[in-house]
Amino acid sequence: MRLAVLTSGGDCPGLNAVIRAVVRTASNEFGDTVLGYEDGWVGLMEDRRRDLYDDAEIDRILLRGGTILGTGRLHPDKFKAGLDQIKANMEDAQVDALIAIGGEGTLKGAKWLADNGVPVVGVPKTIDNDVNATDYTFGFDTAVSVATDAIDRLHTTAESHNRILIVEVMGRHVGWIALHAGMAGGAHYTVVPEVPFDVADICKAMERRFQMGEKYGIVCVAEGALPKEGTMNFSEGDTDQFGHKSFNGIGQAIGDEIKERTGYDVRTTVLGHIQRGGTPTAYDRVLATRYGVHAARAAHEGKSGQCVALHGEDIELVPLEDAVGKLKVVPEKRYQNAQALFG
Ligand code: F6P
Repeated sequence: MRLAVLTSGGDCPGLNAVIRAVVRTASNEFGDTVLGYEDGWVGLMEDRRRDLYDDAEIDRILLRGGTILGTGRLHPDKFKAGLDQIKANMEDAQVDALIAIGGEGTLKGAKWLADNGVPVVGVPKTIDNDVNATDYTFGFDTAVSVATDAIDRLHTTAESHNRILIVEVMGRHVGWIALHAGMAGGAHYTVVPEVPFDVADICKAMERRFQMGEKYGIVCVAEGALPKEGTMNFSEGDTDQFGHKSFNGIGQAIGDEIKERTGYDVRTTVLGHIQRGGTPTAYDRVLATRYGVHAARAAHEGKSGQCVALHGEDIELVPLEDAVGKLKVVPEKRYQNAQALFG
């Protein structure tokens, strides 16, 4: 058999570990060959591909961040209009099954292809950890480690200067990175997109710290967080052609507001794409590798329309439709756990 693999959407640490595991499993267990399409769906439509061999080069990509295949975004309308081209390209390359590695948008595309007769298996990825139907996506642990390390460093400088430091982390629609990094890094307040915040509450928590002699504070803010209506001036960013919201600097806005209301010295750090780059943590390498092994097996066995997923300790196959349509948000009770430690 011949399998194809592609990576689509925003990159994330662990993509190469999946590619490596797919190539090695396909070759070791089945004697299958694998090719990679470049730059996600775009490369599939433009027939930009290359063979991936089970060799020393593939072996060494385990530690490498990003994706050796490149990634890209394609508007759903263009994608759907290219169905015949996609089928023709795959036929020409003698591809029996495609493994699509991506977030919710990519998995939606994979489901649509499977529904239209293209054999596809999905692999969920994103640092945001917002794909439904799986406990964790790879990339998340690395992003949380990077953000936690940053918060650890902010503590000492904040304490030395008696400052409030705001750290803005990624999380377009969900606050998993903020929740975990805020808790692991001992932030004194965390805000997530799922729960609109009142900046007065953050000010109160910071003032309490200063009154108790702890004259500094760390506030961890997810980039997609929004204030409760009427509590603070802030205008949301526009939406791009893929339906992705652009950001207007909620971390900076919160910092400015705290400064104005309390008079404390405040600084804001935006971590941005640092959280998405670099080598994956051991946890992400293992999860990505396990996903790759199971995806290669599923593709070889003709299990189209399925997606690999982590459930507890096990990797299982779930219908792609369970992974799309709705994001995995931070449940209220998880945020309440974090709230217990604010101030
Ligand atoms: O990778 C997920 C995500 O990290 C979001 O949290 C973030 O807003 C977005 O990607 C930014 O990606 P890009 O700059 O590539 O559009």
